[in-house]
Amino acid sequence: MKSELTLFDRALTLLRYPVRNNETLQAWDAGDEYLISHIEEMNLNDGQNILVLNDSFGALSCWFSARHNVTTISDSHIAHKAITANLTRNQCQPITLLDSLAELPPSVDLVLMQIPRNNRFLTWQLNQLRQVLSADIPIIAVNKAKEIHSSTLKLFEKYLGETTTSLAWKKHRLVFSFANSPQTTLVEPFTTWQVDGQPFTLKNLPNVYSGESLDLGARFMLEHLPSDDQHRKAIDLGCGNGVLSVKLAQLNPNLAITCVDESFMAVASAKQNLLDNLSSPRDLRFIDNNCLDGFNPGEYDLVVCNPPFHQQQAITDHIAWQMFCDAKHVLCNGGQLLVIGNRHLGYDVKLKRLFGKSNVSLVAANKKFVILQATK
Ligand SMILES: C[S@@+](CC[C@H](N)C(=O)[O-])C[C@H]1O[C@@H](n2cnc3c(N)ncnc32)[C@H](O)[C@@H]1O
Repeated sequence: MKSELTLFDRALTLLRYPVRNNETLQAWDAGDEYLISHIEEMNLNDGQNILVLNDSFGALSCWFSARHNVTTISDSHIAHKAITANLTRNQCQPITLLDSLAELPPSVDLVLMQIPRNNRFLTWQLNQLRQVLSADIPIIAVNKAKEIHSSTLKLFEKYLGETTTSLAWKKHRLVFSFANSPQTTLVEPFTTWQVDGQPFTLKNLPNVYSGESLDLGARFMLEHLPSDDQHRKAIDLGCGNGVLSVKLAQLNPNLAITCVDESFMAVASAKQNLLDNLSSPRDLRFIDNNCLDGFNPGEYDLVVCNPPFHQQQAITDHIAWQMFCDAKHVLCNGGQLLVIGNRHLGYDVKLKRLFGKSNVSLVAANKKFVILQATK
């Protein structure tokens, strides 16, 4: 796996976060290279205020920090960690690093954007830019050409303004836009819906997982969450909008719950949903984190988890594996991990390897999903 990004006689060492032995995934893509090359060829004066949106692991932040004032906004805790580590690794100038709920900086000369996968998040970000930028500030976005559909460009035109595209280079394309569309009404941050068959409503910030309808796995898991006075402290690992926590809290009035997710918008949505849907005060915590990094061992008796199976664009099961290892670490003896996954993902094999064959049981299954319980 390549870790040196070399362009214009300059080299950066860039690694993903967390750093893993035998990493196969690079910390930047051809889209980052295309953007960097394009901007370098523009010969900007030094000291521009550059706003970078959705930098994956820091390639753009590190590169442009050398000569400009960079503000980077990302919804990902992992991206924040990677960007910070890569800035240090390359002795870069400091930048301003903000989460996705932060207000956009007041003074911006150029916006660079990695186009997010999620169109609701893209719409929201474009609308945010439209609210604050003057019409002469260039916005240059990038993505794989096959991900830039005519519908994507329509979003740019509607929520931001005049939009054109570049030729493709290494299967990537640039999108050039200006904030001059007639549409200026504010896009609401929350999408709200009632959960079928359940006595609660969920509010979803733009980048929360499955923010427009209930995840099918979560729907099945809701039917099998425990109601058990023995459980005192639980973690909802990869909480998303907090759907599992809301149900768990309703079923277990004395349970203390910690919601953990790597998306700032997920953590904020989960917080909103627990506060909105619970009548009595609770011991609740909401933490943006990479899995359970930094959690004490042996403190919890229940972990519920509907693991992700991709990191940014890449399909991978290493996060699920880290979640299972971390869950085992934070569980007390006798504590339980409850996991839902697609049948074909083979989580049973992983859990048996980690917890021991006789400590893993099948709680429920349907055509698509299995729910497994692993006891420490
Ligand atoms: C399949 S979704 C489940 C969301 C919700 N619990 C549900 O059941 O609908 C997985 C969640 O894990 C989060 N996630 C991904 N990588 C993570 C990591 N390294 N640490 C913590 N959370 C992570 C994602 O942001 C996403 O919200």
